[in-house]
Amino acid sequence: MPKLFVTTRAGEQRQIDAGIGLSVMAVIREDTDELLALCGGCCSCATCHVYVDAAVAHRLPAMSEDENELLDISRHRRPTSRLSCQIPVTPDLDGLGVTIAPED
Ligand code: FES
Repeated sequence: MPKLFVTTRAGEQRQIDAGIGLSVMAVIREDTDELLALCGGCCSCATCHVYVDAAVAHRLPAMSEDENELLDISRHRRPTSRLSCQIPVTPDLDGLGVTIAPED
């Protein structure tokens, strides 16, 4: 089972076993309620914003236009920003590190 390394807003690092087929958002929410994920993963709220480790960003699926537009609304967008609900867990993501972005 792939492992994710999640850094909370308080800077705590957690290792979480991630079920294949779940979204990274759903996996994070199993461990912490810091991600509101208000739209439930429909790519319409941006409350599942995370920063992914730059070294593994190339392993993630390409960003859709909708995801890109939603992230543009955030005051905290960085080059490594992603919406975690748009990243399905695959074996390839083992070891992925994500940091929960500040709330907008
Ligand atoms: S949960 Fe709403 S955009 Fe990801």
